[in-house]
Amino acid sequence: MAMASDGSPYRVIGQTVPDVRGPAKTTGQERYNIDVTFPGMLHGKTLRSPYPHARVLRIDPSEAERMPGVIAVVTAKDVAGTNRFGDYAADQPVLVAEGETAKMVGDPLALVAAESEALAEAALERIQVEYEVLPPIVDPEAAIQPGAPRVHEDRGSNICGDPVVLDRGDVERGFAESDVIVEGTYRTPRQEHAYMEPAAGVGVPEPGGGVTLYAGTQAPMQARTSVSRALGIPEHRVRVVPVPMGGAFGGKIDVSVHPHLALLALKSGRPVRMAWRSEESFQASPKRNPARIRVKLGARRDGTFVACEADVLLNGGAYASSSPPVLKVACCYLGGPYDIPNVRIRGVAAYTNDPIAGAFRGFGGPQAAFALETTVNKMATALGTDPIALRLKNALVQGRSTPISPMLHLDHPVTLPQVLTRIRELAGPKPEPSGPRKKVGRGVACTMPIFDTSSGAIYLLKGTGANIELLPDGTAVVRCESAEFGEGASTLLAQVVAEELGLEVKDVTCVLGDTSAVPKSGRAVASRQAFCLGNAAMLAAHNLRTKVFEAAADELEAPPEALGLAEGHVFVRERPDRRISLGKLSWACRLKGIELRGDGWFSQPHGKLGHTFSAGLMDLEVDEETGKVRPLRSVVVLDVGRALNPGALRGQLIGGEAQGLGFALLEDMPTEGGQILTPSLMEYLLPTASDVTDETIVSFVEEPYPAGPYGAKGASEHSVKDVAPALVAALHDALGVWIDEIPATPEKVWRALGAAGRTA
Ligand code: MOS
Repeated sequence: MAMASDGSPYRVIGQTVPDVRGPAKTTGQERYNIDVTFPGMLHGKTLRSPYPHARVLRIDPSEAERMPGVIAVVTAKDVAGTNRFGDYAADQPVLVAEGETAKMVGDPLALVAAESEALAEAALERIQVEYEVLPPIVDPEAAIQPGAPRVHEDRGSNICGDPVVLDRGDVERGFAESDVIVEGTYRTPRQEHAYMEPAAGVGVPEPGGGVTLYAGTQAPMQARTSVSRALGIPEHRVRVVPVPMGGAFGGKIDVSVHPHLALLALKSGRPVRMAWRSEESFQASPKRNPARIRVKLGARRDGTFVACEADVLLNGGAYASSSPPVLKVACCYLGGPYDIPNVRIRGVAAYTNDPIAGAFRGFGGPQAAFALETTVNKMATALGTDPIALRLKNALVQGRSTPISPMLHLDHPVTLPQVLTRIRELAGPKPEPSGPRKKVGRGVACTMPIFDTSSGAIYLLKGTGANIELLPDGTAVVRCESAEFGEGASTLLAQVVAEELGLEVKDVTCVLGDTSAVPKSGRAVASRQAFCLGNAAMLAAHNLRTKVFEAAADELEAPPEALGLAEGHVFVRERPDRRISLGKLSWACRLKGIELRGDGWFSQPHGKLGHTFSAGLMDLEVDEETGKVRPLRSVVVLDVGRALNPGALRGQLIGGEAQGLGFALLEDMPTEGGQILTPSLMEYLLPTASDVTDETIVSFVEEPYPAGPYGAKGASEHSVKDVAPALVAALHDALGVWIDEIPATPEKVWRALGAAGRTA
């Protein structure tokens, strides 16, 4: 096999391969959830609670049911199963029943299927609901106090999931031995995924019973189980076919329209389409958890970190969703990539009547990284040292454990020095201000991002499957449970199969997610796809290759171990002219009754979480008069193990940085009494092309990770985390004030300057 010109031992891996779905996407032919139609389909709508906390006394759908063109109205009375679902705990109702409480604005009470969307909307208004409005529980600090009024009457308290406790050494002694102590309380906003395509899909009743749901999700098999349990439908009668999604970012792990589509399709006996408006998505899909994080860091005069204490309070909103594992991950990040002898980390997630919160790209990491890294930057200022030098001095050393090591493999080289050295090399000169009253600043941050290795330490995701079928013309189909939401899983799988079987990427098609056609491979979350699916596809390809060589041994009259695979042919390695095409071989196997299918199952016996190292640098300009920040230039450096598809990875990291900039500068979904104050894209400020940096330099450190496919580590969520602390440090560099509460809006910057006596 020819070696790539760049000296890489691989032909397809490591090359920038265009998204295999790119042509369909760019020509408008890709069929997203919102585009799915079925003949004779109805349109479904959801009646939602306008109150964040209210007892539902009575739901009377009779008037709506009598409307012409209204085919089905569904309430909790139609639900035969548990009527509950939830990513971490099944505490969320499919439909709130009479006598139960609605716990957030947007909680669903009833569903309508009608001949048109307008009719369905009109019917919602004819459903009579009587509420007893209850005082909302909205302050997470107050909510976790003993004896506080409870969001869930059937739970002992508002503490959601298990609190996190991580200890190492003796922090009191550590602080006593510290020469400098820096403390701060940090707040981060509720962030909305704001994907271009909110949840949507079509539910189709199947002849003979059961239902097929054409509706995107990051977790097809989990959606099948959730629908089965919640609605009391035997699981084999539920089929989930995920359609490519216009974005997900963690907001599509839990089911959304799925149980509602099933209920309406089964009651009406017809296909039913639902498409959430973005306002509904704002209410009902889990946001990034707002966080309050206190950090106290102690160091010796020479910069050595001696003690770190942190406590985290996440606002989980009304239901658990992913808040408990998000909390765990946030606490992992509070150890940082540092070797600190004395550490105490505490974390709690609270139930409130605020919007539901949970998974969002970075999964607790962005909140924690902002708090810890800002503290580290303040420490650098207090000590008068260079922030990169301070980090290098305290970098984790391979072989040393950390308080979070029970959850991580610390089994490979610590590349933080390479990452930080690279960022210093790429930093370039600090820009000049563009005018009077403009100030420029530079800031850095680094993290030790984690990713799932199919091990279950946080997510109960053990095991990742994939299979590959070789077709009679020598092309291949690879199948696994996964999902397309722009991250490029199909392209990655095609690359791996092409690499291993000597095919071209165009000769491989991926079937993703259809629960009746694919092996289980866990959810498309936690930066796990390149690592887990890559490994599973590689194992499947090896399994298939063994079968191909055995079958070809007969045809080529040579032992299997003497054979090779390239350019769509099996050949005798010593006599490359003796060869057979994969198409011919596959056809011959069909005639002989030999199946050319490879199965892969990747499950790490020692599995925990994988980790890597990243750093971000931000140059910005700020207007002293208005407090408005303009990000100018950034550098993102990440140890990716090996970049399987450098172009795609670059896109991931730049996209993540844009979401990080939104988190740091603009985005917030504040509430008042449980009501969302930015209820739609009209009020919610998202970054646009004019708000991101003029230039982002992305650079990979490639230290192959032995457990990863071709050495790859998980990467897709990592660039979000360094942005906010780097940006806030750059603001401090420019203005001399610290912003401990993000987003750093012009108003907050201006007020901080005022508080420092610096405004005109
Ligand atoms: Mo991600 S926030 O684990 O989808």
